[in-house]
Amino acid sequence: MRKLCLALLLAVLLLCAASLACADTPAAVAEKGTGITVIPASQWAETFPEVYASYQANAENAEVVEYTEEYPFIKTIYEDYGFARYYGSARGHYYCVSDLMATGRPHALANCFTCKTADFTVLTLNDGDSAYSIPFDELDGASFEDVGCFTCHANTPGGQITVTHTYLADAVGDDFGSVKAETLSCAQCHVEYYFAPDGKMTTLPYQSLAGMDPDAIYDYYEGIGFSDYTNPRTGVQQLKAQHPEFETYMGAGSVHAGMFTCADCHMAKETGADGKMYLSHKYVSPLESETIQATCAGCHADLAGFVRGVQEPVKTRTNDVGVKLETLTNRLADAVASGKYTDEQLADIRALNRKGQWYWDFVFVENSDGAHNSRLTTKCLDRAEVFIDVALMLLDGLGE
Ligand code: HEC
Ligand code: HEC
Ligand code: HEC
Ligand code: HEC
Repeated sequence: MRKLCLALLLAVLLLCAASLACADTPAAVAEKGTGITVIPASQWAETFPEVYASYQANAENAEVVEYTEEYPFIKTIYEDYGFARYYGSARGHYYCVSDLMATGRPHALANCFTCKTADFTVLTLNDGDSAYSIPFDELDGASFEDVGCFTCHANTPGGQITVTHTYLADAVGDDFGSVKAETLSCAQCHVEYYFAPDGKMTTLPYQSLAGMDPDAIYDYYEGIGFSDYTNPRTGVQQLKAQHPEFETYMGAGSVHAGMFTCADCHMAKETGADGKMYLSHKYVSPLESETIQATCAGCHADLAGFVRGVQEPVKTRTNDVGVKLETLTNRLADAVASGKYTDEQLADIRALNRKGQWYWDFVFVENSDGAHNSRLTTKCLDRAEVFIDVALMLLDGLGE
């Protein structure tokens, strides 16, 4: 009996090792140390030709939309913050570093490289937190490689996933082992973060999965008295949300969080020239891949139509609430400019504006337009609109 059990266990282990991705192999966390170096992606081209070719194919996702033109109201909402001047939409990983070097937004510190290149990650592993406050111009950014193999695999691609952005492990805390490695690999960057005022380290505003909820994150920022910038005309201390894909997908209301990882929907399992399966490292929308859609077809016969149906109302509403937020910003700015009111009289309106903007931004900057979790997205838009409406009513009350 015992022998049989052992044989069974062995068989399971072998199967697991042989399958493309053993779903339950937990992620490792990179060791910190000194003398760690990055093996560049090009050096894996021979060992993993198909994966490497697919990784290079991220260059095909080149289109970029300038949000300040598509959504002119953000010039008002983000006034005096870098994103009001230049805010390109996300495109393929291939462009991470060059897009960063090219933006019209000023970069003071090296922490801007956090989500672009392993050549910076390795400095944080070797030098610790001090790497985040190296002046941006002191590093030779132009020589850096875009999100390389090291970012998700350390120097052992093909082995288990290694989280090299160690702040993620700190932020997920005791829940780390319960999140699939394939999801954690993306959550290294597709998350809400801030630069700690003291030390400028890239930090996530939570310490557990429960803390990832937008209400909890808001409370966290209140608790540490944090704001990213102050709107110059209204005096509102505002928060700038950043692509919270992980928080949205893992949040309450997500239909598929227990079923699929980020990789399941964004990395297709393709068949190579040798007839063996490999995992495409071209990160795509599931609507662009027939292979991915085949895994959905049993429940979503027309995935594209279904997803557009989820996204359209979210997009319209995000735009409408954004326009309302612009109106609030301008009316509050007028009230401030009139000089008739004390800070005390305006405090409630400013607080409502801060909150409304947070909940709206959490949706606006999330890249799925509701597809990851339309319930949470709708809840955030509802909240944002209530805060903005009440602020507008208070302004009415003042006669402004
Ligand atoms: C090291 C940070 C980092 C990691 C890790 C990362 N991404 Fe990204 N991702 C980015 C950045 C930055 C961009 C935007 C690039 C640009 O516009 O220059 C991006 C863009 C994308 C896009 C294109 C978005 C668009 O609108 O066209 C997709 C899709 C994507 N990532 C999916 C993933 C998936 C899936 C994973 C995990 C397997 C992942 N990413 C891991 C940083 C990262
Ligand atoms: C159940 C499938 C599913 C899972 C799991 C999933 N996504 Fe998505 N994701 C989508 C869909 C659908 C879209 C919208 C695509 C479109 O509009 O073409 C999307 C859009 C995106 C985009 C914008 C890409 C683009 O081309 O517009 C990014 C970036 C992204 N997801 C990252 C992630 C990350 C990171 C995770 C894990 C935390 C994740 N996704 C998990 C289905 C999924
Ligand atoms: C953004 C994260 C990310 C990056 C960057 C990345 N990978 Fe992966 N890789 C994954 C994920 C997720 C899996 C699936 C989970 C697993 O196999 O543990 C995977 C699986 C693999 C596998 C096993 C599956 C297969 O097709 O054989 C190989 C080999 C691999 N990656 C090689 C590479 C190479 C080489 C690079 C650089 C050119 C690279 N990866 C860059 C996330 C990444
Ligand atoms: C076992 C059935 C099943 C499979 C397989 C399945 N889905 Fe779903 N999916 C559902 C159900 C049920 C819903 C919820 C529908 C609703 O709320 O009206 C849903 C909702 C969604 C949503 C909207 C989520 C939201 O919050 O509104 C997206 C996007 C989605 N699925 C994408 C996918 C993708 C991509 C795949 C394949 C990788 C897939 N689904 C596979 C059953 C499935």
